[in-house]
This record gives sequence, C-alpha cells and structure tokens, in this order.
Amino acid sequence: VPLPGQLLAQLIDVVGATQVLTDPGQLASFTTDWSGRFVGHTDVVVRPSNSDEVGAVLDLCRGAGVALVPQGGNTGLVGGGVPMHGEAVLSLSRLGHFELDATAGQITVGAGVTIGAVQRAAAEAGWAYGVDLGSRDSATVGGTVSTNAGGLRVLRYGDTRAQLLGLEAVLGTGDVVRNVSGLRRDNTGYQLASLFCGAEGTLGFVTAACLRLVAPSPEQVVALVAFEGVIEAANAASLLRREAASLSAVEFFVSTGLELVCQVMGLAAPFAQSHPAYLLVEGQGQGDVVGELAGALQALAGVVDVAVATETPRRAELWRYREAHTEAINTLGAPHKLDVALPPERLGEFLRTVGATVTESAPEAKTWLFGHAGDGSVHVNLTGLAPDDEAADDAVLTLVAELGGSISAEHGIGTAKVGWLARTKAPGSLAAFATLKRAFDPDGVCNPHVLMPPA
Ligand code: MLT
Ligand code: ZN
Repeated sequence: VPLPGQLLAQLIDVVGATQVLTDPGQLASFTTDWSGRFVGHTDVVVRPSNSDEVGAVLDLCRGAGVALVPQGGNTGLVGGGVPMHGEAVLSLSRLGHFELDATAGQITVGAGVTIGAVQRAAAEAGWAYGVDLGSRDSATVGGTVSTNAGGLRVLRYGDTRAQLLGLEAVLGTGDVVRNVSGLRRDNTGYQLASLFCGAEGTLGFVTAACLRLVAPSPEQVVALVAFEGVIEAANAASLLRREAASLSAVEFFVSTGLELVCQVMGLAAPFAQSHPAYLLVEGQGQGDVVGELAGALQALAGVVDVAVATETPRRAELWRYREAHTEAINTLGAPHKLDVALPPERLGEFLRTVGATVTESAPEAKTWLFGHAGDGSVHVNLTGLAPDDEAADDAVLTLVAELGGSISAEHGIGTAKVGWLARTKAPGSLAAFATLKRAFDPDGVCNPHVLMPPA
C-alpha cells in the first residue's frame, strides 16, 4: 500500500519531524535483519517516545489501512521485525522508561531498554536478571518479551515469560492493556502479559514490562567438557540437570564449529586434540558451586577431556568458544538458521542423523550444530544455500516433527517459519490463534505477515 500523503504529516504531528524517517539512507538499517538473510523495504520508520505516542501512531495507521512492523534492537533471526511486505516500521527503541524496585526485586522498563542495561541496573541494586543472550547490548525488552526470548540460562531461570510480572501494550484495536503493578501473586483471570509474550507483535505492541529479578550468583564456575561422541554429550546434558542444583547453563557445539570459531576469531584451541562434541557447563550460586559441578561431571560417561575456569577472564574465554558461533558462521554468507527443540530422549538421535538428512536434500549445504542442549534446543545453521532454497530446511523440520520436537525453540516463527507452523501445531490450536488475532487486531495492521498468513 503506498503511503497516503496526509498520513506522513499526521505522524509528524504526533512524534515530531525528526522521528519520522523517510530518507532511503536512514531506512536501510531498519529493513535488513542482523543475519543479512531477510531484506525488506519500507517508505517510513516512525519512532515514538512513549506509549501514548505509540497508540496515536497505531490509530493513524489503522485509519489509513497501513500495516506496522514493530522493531526493537533488530536482532531477530526469523524475519519478524523487518518490513518484508513494505509495512511501515514502528521503532520502539526510544521507549526508555526505567524504574527499579530494590525491595520487591523487580524492574519496570520501557520497550526500548536493552537487556544489557537491565542486567547492569539489577547488579548495581544487588540483584540479577535471569535472561542473558549474546545480543544483550542490542536486544531490547520489547523485542525479548514479544518473542519470549530464551538465551543461555533458560535451564535455571526459565524464558522471558517466566520473568514477566506485568506488561503495558497497545492492542490492534487501540485499547491499552496496562498492568505493571508487579504483584507476584495476582490470580484474576486471563494472563494478558503471558499472551503478548511470544505473540511477535501480532496482537499489538508491547510498550513496557515489569520483570522479576533473581538473587545474584557471586560464585561461578565454567567447565568445557569434551566427549567421544554427540550421543554421549546429549545424554550428559540430561543427566547434569539432576546432579547439580547450581547448574545454570549447558551449551553444546561440535568440532567443526569450534574449529571455525578459532580460525575466524583467532583463538587458541582449548585442547591439544579435536573431539567430536563439547558441552560448555556453567554452575552459579552462593555456595560451593565448584565442588558441586566436579561431582556432577564425575557421574558422566564418555568424557575425554575437561577445562575448568573459576576466574572471570578465563570463564569468558571458555564462553567465547560457544557465543562466537553466530558471528563466525555469518562470515560464510547469510546462513539459513533453524532453531529447533527435541524431547531429551530423542536429542542424541537428532544430532547424529540431521547432517545426513541435510546432505540428502542439498548436497552442497554445510550443517553447523550448536545450542542450548540442557533444554533440548539445537541451532541448525545451513550455509552454502541460496536464500530462497528451502529444501534442506524442510527436510530438517520434517525430521524434527517426526521426532516429536518443535520447529522453533527460541527464535520464534516470524515470516521465515509461517509455512511450517502447522507441522507441530494441531488444527485446534491454529484456529484459536486465528480467533485471538481477529479479536485483538481486527483490521490486521499489527505485523500481519508474521506467525500466520494474513486473513
Ligand atoms: C545463540 O544461541 O547463539 C542465538 O540463538 C543466536 C543464534 O542462534 O545464532
Ligand atoms: Zn540460541
């Protein structure tokens, strides 16, 4: 839909001329996703500074029949926050409201505040924030709530939904939901905060959230554990959860990924020899986390080498072998990023067979495996494929569905996975999705191409 001329003037009335971007040079960074695989186009980016302005912008766009894509730090990986169909972009990065309640252990923040800023504010007040992810200094509260972001410590603290005590959002109807009182117990009907979390901006736009904080962990230990095979690593990931109460992360990668990371980042290899599979295991808490982790590691089968770190710089070095995977793989060209979950007892089988499944449908593709093994969540990155050649993606997601898994463990559906949602969602659930969408966004202006095909 071409932008009606008078709409621009009305948007400027609401947010000011400097916050309505139309210059192609200024639009570019809002239309391409971080990975470079999803490149959209738009005529306008609007940057409101508070929820009243968000509501006014939404009203104007709804009246003009112009759809909006909400965007925070633009760190999404499934084409859900870029205008793939020429929508207007609603950038929420200026919503920077900040209020920490040190007594209650919670923080109420605007959608545009980054996760890194929440973590730092929490630490200054003697608390911690349970969600952490590699994109912490760009990813925003609005985006992580809208996508129910997971990250590195879901195992210990749960996903973003598990931190969410309240929310403020503008619905597609123009109504405003505002419940940021932060009460730990409030059992009074539909949990709208939970519903908006993971809705990917399809019901309306999150403008603020109240998040719970957790006790800090002064004692920390990281172990990089090498295994003789992926099956042994997958089995260990399950077992560890039972063996150490202070366990805070169990991350997975394999030899090819580690070698690429070392080569691209110029890092020394962690062990004298290469091994088929690795777990990065972290313990955090206020007691003897080192002793607890050592005991847990002893219970594992198939371990061939271990490197342990308790001091900050060395712990960060070990983490880097895992966290740098995303950046290292991106140097090979925009990857196809699949992000799947498996039931724990099928994880080893999946890791062992997925490479062959890819090669069968796309012999030219290279498969990279890493992820959050402690939650049964694996990132399958495919390189060497044209952006729109999805035969291998389909083969992997078919395998996931056969094994009883989910086609998205953490990145969400976006525009990238719409065609596969029905693989692991029953018709009754999809019908309920469509009913909710119609009720909250009857005019179809809130991220209409995401999650489900437009009505
Ligand atoms: C990660 O686990 O590193 C993130 O989900 C990003 C990615 O999948 O590349
Ligand atoms: Zn991840």
